This record gives sequence, C-alpha cells and structure tokens, in this order.
Amino acid sequence: MTTLAETPPFLKRLFERLDFAPQPIGAQTRHALEHWLASRRGVAPTFADVVADLRNCGFAFRAVPDARDYEIVIGAKAVAPLLGAVTEGARLSEAPDRRGAVRLRRLFDEVLRIGEPALVEFTLVEKGRDRAGVELLAAPLALADGALGAVLGALDIRRYEAPAPAREARPQGDESILLFALGSSLALGESVARELAVPLAPHEERRFEDGERKLRPLVGVRGKDAYVLASLEGEAGDSGADKLLRLVFFIGALRDAGAARVTAIAPYLCYARKDRRTKPQDPVATRYVAQILEAVGADRIVTVDAHNIAAFENAFRIESVALDAQALFARYFAQRLGAEPAAVVSPDLGGEKRAELFRQRLETMLARPVAKGFMDKHRSMGEVTGEIFAGDIAGRAVVILDDLISSGGTMARAARACRAHGATRIFLAATHGLFTRDAETTLREAPIEEIVVTDTVAPSDAHERLRGRLVIIGVAPLVAEAIARLHGAGSIDELLETGPKGAP
Ligand code: R5P
Repeated sequence: MTTLAETPPFLKRLFERLDFAPQPIGAQTRHALEHWLASRRGVAPTFADVVADLRNCGFAFRAVPDARDYEIVIGAKAVAPLLGAVTEGARLSEAPDRRGAVRLRRLFDEVLRIGEPALVEFTLVEKGRDRAGVELLAAPLALADGALGAVLGALDIRRYEAPAPAREARPQGDESILLFALGSSLALGESVARELAVPLAPHEERRFEDGERKLRPLVGVRGKDAYVLASLEGEAGDSGADKLLRLVFFIGALRDAGAARVTAIAPYLCYARKDRRTKPQDPVATRYVAQILEAVGADRIVTVDAHNIAAFENAFRIESVALDAQALFARYFAQRLGAEPAAVVSPDLGGEKRAELFRQRLETMLARPVAKGFMDKHRSMGEVTGEIFAGDIAGRAVVILDDLISSGGTMARAARACRAHGATRIFLAATHGLFTRDAETTLREAPIEEIVVTDTVAPSDAHERLRGRLVIIGVAPLVAEAIARLHGAGSIDELLETGPKGAP
C-alpha cells in the first residue's frame, strides 16, 4: 500500500490517500477494478476490451499526443462531479473545475508511468465545508500499438450529511513565522512549511565524535516569532531523551540570539505516559519535561494527542496546546466504513473519553448511530491483565482508537476481544505509530484489517514491514493551521472543533 506519507509532494497536495494496491470500497470503483483485472491478459486491457462496460459506469480518457493533456472518450456524465459540465471529446484543460482537472491529469500521469491501477481518496470542499468523500480509481489502458496511452476511471462519492462548519481562510505566506524542523522531523517540517507557504528556516546540526551535538539557527532570529518542530519519539540510535535535549539546547540558542517568542512543537511528546504517581515515590516525568522546557525559555508547547490532556495541561505553566487528530481520523473512517454498521472501541479505560469524543464525531459525520465498547486493562511491572469487555459490537466494523501503538500488545488484545464479540472487520487507529520491539509480529497475528496512524512519528523500518496493512495520515495541515492561529490568525478551540482544512 502506498500511503500519503510516501507520496510525492505534488500528489500529497491533491489527495489524502494514494494506493497502488487498490482495494476499493465503493461499488463503481470496485466494479471497474474487477472488470479491468478480468480483461487484462498479461498486459493492460485496451479501450475496446472495456468500452461496453463503461457505458454503464465509469469513464475513459486518452492522452493527447505531445500535450500534457487528456481527452474524454466516454463517460462525461460520470466524471462531471469532478470536472463540472463536460462533453465527450473535450480536453481536461477545458474543464470548468480546474482543481478536478489537475487532480485527474496528475493521477493519469502516475498511472501511465507506473502501468498499474491506483486508488485515491480526497475530500470535496465547497465554500470552506467538507461536502463529500471521493474514492477514485484510475487504471491504464493500452492503445492499438500496445503502448499505454489511455486511462479507465470510476468514482464513488459519499456526500456528508452533516458537513463540518465553514472555517476561516488561513492567511498564506506569512514570512514573519520562523519555522525550524529538527532531525527526523524534517520531512514533517517541510510539509508544514508548504502548508503555511513559508520556507523552512535553515539551521545547523553538527554531531561530534562522542555523540554530542551542536545546533544553531542559520538565520537572524532577533525579535522573531520562532516555532521549533521536533517530534520526540525514540528511534534506533536516537532516544527520545537525546531529541528532547537537542530541542532544549536549540530553544536556548534561539533565546540567546534574541528570538521574541519560541514555541516548541513536539507532535509526539516523550515521557508523557508517566504523568502521575501510581507507586510510592514514583516520578511525574511529564512535569519534569515541562520544567526543563520552561527553564530554557520556551513560551509555548504544542503537541498532538497528549497521552492525558489534563496531565499535560497541568504540567506546563506556559501556554500548552493539545491538538488532536480526531477530525483527520473521522474523515478517513467516514469514507472507509461507508454504510457498514460501525462501533468505536477504547482498548483501555484511560482512553475511554478520547474514544467517546471520536465516536460522537464519527456519528455526526456518518449521520447514523455508532456503537461503543471498551476493554479493561491493567499494567503492572510490564505485565498486562484484564479481560472484561463491555459493548455491543456484534456484526459491526470496529475502529479501536488509542493515542499510540508501542509494542502493539494493547491493540492486539483489544482486537482479539472484538473478534470474540462478533466484530466483522477490525481497524486500528492511533495517532503515534511507535511500533517498538516485536510490534509487527504482535499485530500480524491479531485479527486486524488495517492500521491507521499519523506521521507524528517519522517512518521507520517497522512502518516498512507493516506495509500492506498500514495507512499513514498526514498531520501537517493540522500543525500548520495551529501555527497560523497561534501567530494571530484565529482560535485554537475552533480548530479542535472543526479540524484542519480538508483537501486543498
Ligand atoms: C497506555 O496508556 C497508552 O495509551 C497505550 O495504550 C499504550 O502505551 C500502548 O502500548 P503497547 O502498544 O505497548 O501496548
């Protein structure tokens, strides 16, 4: 499965998901793919092989020789929701809906380049509101000489019955925002910078022989509003503690160089799980992390899906902003689940509130009831116990929601319980895909159809090994919009309510 995080930037701007091993959900897209596969005899089918079927659904375009354009051969009505009113024989470049035309041209180029079908998903936005989820299939067709030169397509559109309220337009290109991205957060930083239409500010990161590092900004920061993006997950050869220390030193350097305000953005905040005393003389690590960041001069901290929002907010005396990925997950699953009966399950009681808010959001988007369930879980000395499961999920597709997946044990046991209680399909959704230890093995052995995470944690080998069942949703629009609002363009509470701007 090709996921958004692995997709070239120009496609990322157009689609929320792109998959070269398509498994369509929609009736039209599924039918078109089955027909394409049945007509393929070692090589891509020709237009003649599929045309009879296309009269009922779908559409076909032919590449215009020597022009970066495509001409519609059949199915003008079927493709009108994307292009506006078009007729057969018209070119994409003539379509009334320019964005739809660009989407199709870019997708067709990719499909002909790769020679395989692709499935994309995106949200149709009208007047600032999310109106519908679109699933679009495109598959290459051969011309008479055998060369690939035409594309078969089909689309399924799911109108949202309860669209999200309109949002303020984000001011673009405010270069008084100084955005830095440290270490493995570079890729996410580039996406955030692109969303904000500002360049990523340059900095130097030098590693000395003994492992110590030096970081400094390579632009003047005096009087500036600086944002430092650094996700603090541990990875091979680079622990969360190392990353935290580098973030602290970099904030110190910005302060010493005269930055007016420094916001630390740690989409994944390390040490957030030890947020209270559960045993005598336990540490409260979240508070110590807060004290370190405050001491060095951070003015604000932003994270995504804090492990425990109350503990996070209480730990910091500076302004703390806990973003959440719920709107992103809800959009994804509203489309993914279609008309299936659905349920949301929390894999432990501590996450029940998070799961309930997500369930309510999904229910609003689907405009029908979504059931709920939760699982008992106790962890002591590394051992997990608790077998009680509550909730009526029989005959439903279940989304198990958690803030993070580490060893995968929590999710795997919840998935097994869901299957034992009659769930038809089981999806995992977790903001932070840490995938430590033997997470792939643990998850592979569990009855899970798909694992959906965000890119708060940089891709690792584990992500690669989970390929096929892993979907990665980008948080850049969410983080970018938070920065824009913190920089003066509006309310953070409203952002949490509505989620970031949908498809561009
Ligand atoms: C625990 O409170 C967290 O919300 C997660 O459920 C937990 O950290 C997941 O860990 P693992 O994947 O190792 O079971």
